[in-house]
Amino acid sequence: MTRKLIAGNWKMHGHRAQALPLAAAVAAYVRAEKPAADILLCPPATLLREISAAVGDTLLIGGQDCAPQEEGAYTGDISAYMLKEAGCTHVILGHSERRQYHAEDDEAVHAKAQAALKTGLIPIICVGETLLQRDRGEAETVVTMQVKAALPAGECVLAYEPVWAIGTGKTPTLTDIEAMHACIARAAGRDVQILYGGSVKPGNAKEILHLPSVGGALVGGASLSADDFCAIIPAAVRG
Ligand code: PGA
Repeated sequence: MTRKLIAGNWKMHGHRAQALPLAAAVAAYVRAEKPAADILLCPPATLLREISAAVGDTLLIGGQDCAPQEEGAYTGDISAYMLKEAGCTHVILGHSERRQYHAEDDEAVHAKAQAALKTGLIPIICVGETLLQRDRGEAETVVTMQVKAALPAGECVLAYEPVWAIGTGKTPTLTDIEAMHACIARAAGRDVQILYGGSVKPGNAKEILHLPSVGGALVGGASLSADDFCAIIPAAVRG
């Protein structure tokens, strides 16, 4: 069985003065406890290199987005190769905040994922429905379309992140998570690790991570506290 992946998505949080001790505390926990799970931190791009050098092999490091192009006149963008050079193994793509604030569609996510794969990064492709779509009974149709359009061939991770669960403290029922993960697996049409993301906290991590279809968690808010993030990690290990 694949080891579960616990990923911290710091988003645009983490000034250096708090970020370096946070990463160091998570690394110290992992070194001491040696959990049978993969732990990934996705800090802001400016801190990637320094954090990856500081944590060494103890933690995996990922970016939060990459450009679909390899290089060129794309002011403000960062290529997959640049992330790799900064120490990344993974990159989060198609997060609902990127889709919302940067108008990213599935076609763009697909192109970015292909660029990531070409460089040797593992894309973590986020999909998920809005509350309106869920209320209309469209959740499965929406994620099926997102997966089919965005997922390229190659080693990828998918993350089911219902938009209405991100940063809200709300989570789907366990039955709904299982149903959505089954739907995502069907849409992928191959064996892909599927993370759950959206208000994962120490208090709900165990019940969510013990679901058979859940291959790990993408953690936002709770990843900004070393205590909370580290308290989630044991839930990724059976027992
Ligand atoms: P949250 O964010 O854990 O704060 O809900 C999850 C995410 O956006 O990846």
